[in-house]
Amino acid sequence: MNYEDLMLRAITEAGRNKYTAKPNPVVGAILVKSDEIIAEGYHKEFGKNHAEINAIYQAKKLLNIKFNSFSELTLICTLEPCSHIGKTGSCAEAIVKSGIKKVIIGSIDPNPKVSGKGVDILKKNNIEVEIGIHQDLVAKQNKFFFYRHKNNKPYITLKIASSLDWKSHFKSHERVYITCEESNYDVQKLRAENDAILTGKNTLLNDNPRMNARVNFQLNQPEKILLSKSYNQNLDKLERPFFKGSKTTHIKNNDLESALSKILQSDICSILVEAGPKLANAFLESGYVDELLVYKSPKKLGETAVSWFRQDNAIEKYGFKLESSCKIGCDIKDTYLKNGKK
Ligand SMILES: NC(=O)c1ccc[n+]([C@@H]2O[C@H](COP(=O)([O-])OP(=O)(O)OC[C@H]3O[C@@H](n4cnc5c(N)ncnc54)[C@H](OP(=O)(O)O)[C@@H]3O)[C@@H](O)[C@H]2O)c1
Repeated sequence: MNYEDLMLRAITEAGRNKYTAKPNPVVGAILVKSDEIIAEGYHKEFGKNHAEINAIYQAKKLLNIKFNSFSELTLICTLEPCSHIGKTGSCAEAIVKSGIKKVIIGSIDPNPKVSGKGVDILKKNNIEVEIGIHQDLVAKQNKFFFYRHKNNKPYITLKIASSLDWKSHFKSHERVYITCEESNYDVQKLRAENDAILTGKNTLLNDNPRMNARVNFQLNQPEKILLSKSYNQNLDKLERPFFKGSKTTHIKNNDLESALSKILQSDICSILVEAGPKLANAFLESGYVDELLVYKSPKKLGETAVSWFRQDNAIEKYGFKLESSCKIGCDIKDTYLKNGKK
């Protein structure tokens, strides 16, 4: 196998941990002696060992069986080994300590605070380094992680469920399920993909949602963020499921810019906004939304319901272009991107 094939294998296998590694990137590492794969490691779960550490650990079991020294091995890893001592220690230092003499890297880490520093550690210790094999695939696979570090903001998706006549809910707040079961399950998967779900006070009080991802596979549940100046949990008579199950943050602020800068202090790379028209429109007006998903039902709600948008052609006026459209159960799912950007 050549390095390109090995990198493809590492990328493919790393992708299997997409839902458990987040908000960390998925990373794969393979140790080879000439053409023979000696060991493989993957970053399987947030907070647990990185891929390179797992590969080195697996290889150690075969020392003096399949190889005599780590200097005989080449490490292929999809993302630059980290330089910093985070939750699990520096991978670049661990590679140096192991005695590996050649490292092939898919992409440099996009985080400006660490970018290039892992490579510097390797080079300073006389390790031969090659960079750039399938870097576009690595970036694509870790879209949210790369987006956050390149743009200094999380990737924000706004999801709305709309009736055919562009309504969100009844004025009376009488509970109504707008979309079909298939759309509802699609939203569960969407939640599973994102690092955090964000909502506003009225949705919290009227719908009393759990806002977790109810899927039939393992995942690191998304964090939950409530944006509300006036909500006071101590005065709330109900024990709300929203505050249970995963980390919840209540940002007592209506200013989206400062809310986002607070969110940037955490590892969150992607946010799914699931709110009513007030907060949804505030997000659209702010220009922070990267992707708008509309699940549109064939049902109409009529005049006693609240409109999603305050103006005609709002989606286009906010700068969104239709990227794709598909049928999902009896609904239509439309994906819009900001200025058509991919
Ligand atoms: N069809 C759907 O997809 C869907 C999805 C979610 C909800 N809903 C429906 O939407 C209804 C609620 O909608 P809504 O529009 O009245 O409320 P909302 O958007 O859910 O929440 C509005 C509240 O969020 C807080 N907020 C924080 N920052 C804000 C900002 N920059 N701009 C505006 N609000 C901000 C404010 O609370 P403070 O004043 O406390 O700061 C505000 O009153 C619910 O009854 C629910 O059924 C429908």
